[in-house]
Amino acid sequence: MEIPPELVGKLRSARRVAVLTGAGVSAESGVPTFRQAQSGLWARYDPQSLATATAFKANPRLVWEWYAWRRNLVAQAAPNPGHYALVVLEHRIPEFCLITQNVDGLHQRAGSHNIIELHGNIQRSKCFDEHTVIESWEEQTDIPPHCPHCGGMLRPDVVWFGENLPPEALEAAREAVEHCELFFTIGTSGIVEPAASLPSLALQAGAVVVEINPQTTPQTRLASYILRGPSGVLLPELVARAWPNFP
Ligand code: OAD
Repeated sequence: MEIPPELVGKLRSARRVAVLTGAGVSAESGVPTFRQAQSGLWARYDPQSLATATAFKANPRLVWEWYAWRRNLVAQAAPNPGHYALVVLEHRIPEFCLITQNVDGLHQRAGSHNIIELHGNIQRSKCFDEHTVIESWEEQTDIPPHCPHCGGMLRPDVVWFGENLPPEALEAAREAVEHCELFFTIGTSGIVEPAASLPSLALQAGAVVVEINPQTTPQTRLASYILRGPSGVLLPELVARAWPNFP
């Protein structure tokens, strides 16, 4: 698709850019999204039995094993050109903030540094009782493994339905969004709050909103520029148009 030259100019001259990403950014890496018909995780599995504290208390082994399966899937996936294009943006834009709802760690593996994780990271665990974050554990012994400090059960360090986002992460995201000139919402269905409100916060604060997504979302109406298509194609194209000589 033709990238609007006006958008290319705005990106090239922007000093403060914030980006919100969702599962769609990792779709081209082979990581399933949540809400796509048939292939989406929530089309095949019931979130209430797998992604809530109540589900974990009822069947910790099932929940742990489902996340272990996803951890494996993500470990075998690799970042795609969309992730790498966002790394280039971090290098080219003086103040760049990447806010992600993704728990897969693919932005980090691509080389992005300034990342705010709103929904945690599947590669980490935390103690169910005391919330101590645990970076590595033995997968083979107990399922779920136990906290080395208090002996409680470990759970994935992700935000489940009914739980609050990490307050510092949400605060930092809002701060970045309120101060950006250009805001991108990429590969997210824009349904899950509070992330879903970030595009309107950006607009209220005077930013130009851009959406990259093959589908329409509730946030489409807020966007001045809409790039319809996969982020793994459109993001590298946008970056190449803005900085043609960048390797
Ligand atoms: P969804 O599965 O709700 O939405 C994925 C979006 O990506 C859709 O709008 C697709 O149209 C779009 N998409 C698909 N392929 C794409 C591609 N190649 N390039 C760009 N976009 C593409 O995922 P999220 O919006 O991330 O929460 O879901 C938000 C939260 O809901 C997740 O973080 C997760 C889930 O429940 C938790 O786990 C807490």
